[in-house]
Amino acid sequence: MRKLFISLLFAVLPLAMMADEGMWIPMLLQKNEADMQKAGMRITAKDIYDINHACLKDAVILFNQGCTGEFVSDQGLFLTNHHCGYYYITSNSTVEHDYLTHGFWAMSREQEIPCRGLTATRLVRMEDVTAQVLEGVTDQMSEKDRAAIISKNIERISAKAVEGSHYKAVIKPFYYGNQYFMYINEVFTDVRLVGAPPSNIGKFGGDTDNWIWPRHTGDFSMFRVYCSPDGKPAAFSSDNVPYKPLKHLTVSLKGLNEDDFTFVFGYPGSTQRYVTSDAMRISAIEVNPIRIALRDIRLKYYKDAMEQSPAQRLKYASKVASIANGWKKWQGETLGIERLQGVAKKEAYERQFQRWANDKPEYRDVLPRLHQAYATLHPITIERTYFDEAVRSSDLMQRAGLMYTLLYGATSDSAKHAWAGNFAKQQDKYFSDFDKHGPIDKGIFVDTYILMWKAGYAPYLGKEESAVRKKLVTAFDKSILTNKDRLVKLLSDYTPKQGKKLENDPAVALFSEAYSYVYHKDNKLQIHDSIAYHVVPALMRTYVKGIMEKDPDVNYFPDANLTLRVAYGAVKGFKPKDATYYVPYSTLAGIMEKENPDIYDYVVEPRLKELYRTKDYGRYADRNGDMPVCFLTTCHTTGGNSGSPVLNADGQLVGVNFDRCWEGTMSDLLFDPNYCRNICLDIRYCLFIIDKFAGARHLVDEMTIVQ
Ligand code: ARG
Ligand code: ASP
Repeated sequence: MRKLFISLLFAVLPLAMMADEGMWIPMLLQKNEADMQKAGMRITAKDIYDINHACLKDAVILFNQGCTGEFVSDQGLFLTNHHCGYYYITSNSTVEHDYLTHGFWAMSREQEIPCRGLTATRLVRMEDVTAQVLEGVTDQMSEKDRAAIISKNIERISAKAVEGSHYKAVIKPFYYGNQYFMYINEVFTDVRLVGAPPSNIGKFGGDTDNWIWPRHTGDFSMFRVYCSPDGKPAAFSSDNVPYKPLKHLTVSLKGLNEDDFTFVFGYPGSTQRYVTSDAMRISAIEVNPIRIALRDIRLKYYKDAMEQSPAQRLKYASKVASIANGWKKWQGETLGIERLQGVAKKEAYERQFQRWANDKPEYRDVLPRLHQAYATLHPITIERTYFDEAVRSSDLMQRAGLMYTLLYGATSDSAKHAWAGNFAKQQDKYFSDFDKHGPIDKGIFVDTYILMWKAGYAPYLGKEESAVRKKLVTAFDKSILTNKDRLVKLLSDYTPKQGKKLENDPAVALFSEAYSYVYHKDNKLQIHDSIAYHVVPALMRTYVKGIMEKDPDVNYFPDANLTLRVAYGAVKGFKPKDATYYVPYSTLAGIMEKENPDIYDYVVEPRLKELYRTKDYGRYADRNGDMPVCFLTTCHTTGGNSGSPVLNADGQLVGVNFDRCWEGTMSDLLFDPNYCRNICLDIRYCLFIIDKFAGARHLVDEMTIVQ
């Protein structure tokens, strides 16, 4: 009886939408409006997205191609995360002006720093273009023909849509190509850095606290969009003026209480909600542990070095941050999928789907065929995981890969000569953090390779561990790629004759061997590409169509694809493990609890301590007189949502999204309202830092604030 109950539960749950799950398309938000209002929202779907009137969407921007930002003044001032602005903060820092360590605040417009290459993209409007994109497509044609027609149609439709305007059009598939939307965007290219807190506020807790609650990170930075005097996007010019957004957000200092309605409006990058049990098993149960084990090795070498001196710490900090971010997330993801028995749930749903599909010719074979496709992809995927995380991740092999392209890439001799000459010029910088004689780079290269070899994915290295090890060490020691002077000499005047020398280099030869083994042996590249890029996408398109047809009353959200979405939920704590309950707010008192002058991640600025001691919080304090720092909500978010505005029931800004809780990082594959929480910076802490800590009151005065 109990068993029956459990399997029934599995059968019903998996593809039913969970409470708070979903990243919704703003244009179609009417479908969610009643639900949102029932949950407490006091505005309408049209206040969020409307093409005829200024609305909240006009205040939200895509920051480069991976974060979100929001306008908070009528002078183009916007907020995003510190970790989103990180590159611009560090690259504008020098030894004399170390903005990363000490923060940066432009006290006048003249002091704002132009950020070359940075874009801020505003959505003008979106449109369902499914019919036009699929014009001329038939069910009988091959996937290749289908793709060719679609790409031609997309090119034609998008060109026509922006003809005679300065807008840019982007068309993206939804539900695996069952639907297409066109986005008409305005892309601003003169964006300037306005403010950033010191990193012991903007990155307080560092990688130790990353993905973790309780959290106390002041993860924000500020930029301003400039445009030509007539209000259009323009390249940097001193004649440019601050952009006047159609709408900027009103900031509320009221804060939220537990269970209050809230929504996040931004650009989530990618989710995999509809994948089959096979795909989930391969990625979460098999691939993640391999990546984690290989990254353990890299992290250990860097961390040992970083503990030796502040200079070493600085040198490797950003490498480690990017390795550790995925490493930590995948651990949480795998645990989450295991805890929820995600694969078993998917299998149960698939049995149910199959029963439904048995008498429907269109859907009958789709799951068996997907199963077959994944059976073929499985070994290739595992092998490529090793290749990417071992071979492609050591500095030596990465550079050997570049040399491989130089040797065998399909460009002219003169293009190769030019590329090599340019590469030669960058070697001073490169070798400044390449550890030729120390343990790091050699250790990472050898140890990750050995792990791959032991798992059986580098048989070309031989059979004896000691011989394999010797071969690797020799490749490292003897390679021209580890010798700056010889390398620069060879590349400065590169000719095909010198190419011969490079071909025989032990590291380059090793890379060639690994590359041919993984990509070319047994025709693996063709097999992989035809299945991964043609067979699986076509089957997934049919499967997802079937899922929606099977339960037509369910409002299924399309997987995230870096388009603007609304996620809504409530402020809520959670129970991460037995006997523990997480309250959904943190305060400045917690920063003082974590303070430790000996641990880099937990150093607290004297000025912040002083403000804490005197409780000089001004109007930013909460009702109890405390200084709020971060809070949790149940909104469904993912990478790309960083910097997204977190809004209250009236559509006012109360926070800035920046992370998720570790226990819920499986939300890209499977959402669970009991565990999935996004972490938001409380806007009051952000304003407190700008105003009281940094004394940049003029920036707060630009904003529209309600008490
Ligand atoms: N985990 C967050 C995200 O995925 C923040 C990463 C940056 N912060 C850090 N401490 N590394 O982007
Ligand atoms: N920290 C992520 C980002 O940068 C957000 C997340 O994965 O929840 O987009």
